[in-house]
Amino acid sequence: MFIFKTINDIQAYLRKSTQNGEKVGFTPTMGALHSGHLSLISRAKEENVFSVCSIFVNPTQFNDPKDLEKYPRPIEQDIQLLISAGCDILFLPDVAEMYPPGLDVSVKVNLGGLDQVLEGPKRPGHFDGMVTIVHRLLDIVQPDKLYMGLKDYQQQAIIGQMIADLQMPIELIPCESIREADGLAMSSRNARLSPEWRAKAPLIYQELNTVAGRLDLESISSVEASITYSLSAAGFKVEYISIVDAGTLQEISSLSSNQNWVALVAVWAGDVRLIDNIAGQSKFSDLS
Ligand code: PAF
Repeated sequence: MFIFKTINDIQAYLRKSTQNGEKVGFTPTMGALHSGHLSLISRAKEENVFSVCSIFVNPTQFNDPKDLEKYPRPIEQDIQLLISAGCDILFLPDVAEMYPPGLDVSVKVNLGGLDQVLEGPKRPGHFDGMVTIVHRLLDIVQPDKLYMGLKDYQQQAIIGQMIADLQMPIELIPCESIREADGLAMSSRNARLSPEWRAKAPLIYQELNTVAGRLDLESISSVEASITYSLSAAGFKVEYISIVDAGTLQEISSLSSNQNWVALVAVWAGDVRLIDNIAGQSKFSDLS
């Protein structure tokens, strides 16, 4: 695996290596890699000639400076994991490389309101920073395919909209969330859970798993209320549980037939914020 720290170096290498149309699959990350990331990197390798990964803890997408400070950075371990997953190229820039003083890297894009809901109001500035850095990384790497996890459902929806709006010649490949054996969605933040919270955390996905069945019998608001109740009773602080249109992320008061929905949840497990989601399609109208 090659490791490049500068834009010039990675671009020179990629330019030379893709002269005959060799395809590039790209997985942007902030490091602290787990099996969820590694599945994206392996899939990028299976479907392209080159699997490129970036590790960059992007300061502009953290709205809480303490969260940025506490973000794990086990770079030696990450490098070993990337090699084992078949990664060909790691892009490992520093902050000055990505945000050179005086260079305006911001991007003007119509996100169709996708950034205004759910995580948007809870984490002011987060999606602006995330969109800016993913746009900049795509501009540098110029991949054919971009691999992103569905665990961050809203994030991948926003990037899909950015690619469409800016007509970037990149195919977004949303990939299923990878879960621990007990159902907890893999996340770099899980390492910060105390043993007590780690034991309770699978309840989040257990509750999400009941959504499809309950929607056959109950209204959307009643399903949201009962999941809020169960998670709160277990001690989680629920920020939101929302069952929304899977494409627009807008609230729906009742389901129409064959409606694609997604149920998204954000909770605090002690001082660790966890998100998860499950998607489905309605068969019939609900009863509300
Ligand atoms: O999901 C992440 O790790 C980050 O938001 C991303 C996409 C790498 C941008 O910094």
